[in-house]
Amino acid sequence: MPKLIVVTREGEEKELDGENGLSVMEVIRDGGVDELLALCGGCCSCATCHVTVDPDFADKLPAMSADEDDLLDSSDHRTEFSRLSCQLIFGEALDGLKVTIAPED
Ligand code: FES
Repeated sequence: MPKLIVVTREGEEKELDGENGLSVMEVIRDGGVDELLALCGGCCSCATCHVTVDPDFADKLPAMSADEDDLLDSSDHRTEFSRLSCQLIFGEALDGLKVTIAPED
């Protein structure tokens, strides 16, 4: 099973088993990390699933939609590596991906 590394807001690093086909948001939530509110449930309309991704994986991630881009613009904590984790489908190609939960807006 591919592994997802999550860094919490307190800097704690956790390794989670990621089921193929789940979103990164779902893997984090199912792994018991409760910092990620994901209020809209993955509909790309809340931006509370904001993470920053390991730059080494940038070219393996799906392109960002205009909606995701707009929502991330509403965050004071956006960086060039920001993504909405509900928009990233996890799988073998992303094995070892490290994401950091963004500060709360
Ligand atoms: S869970 Fe709402 S935008 Fe990702």
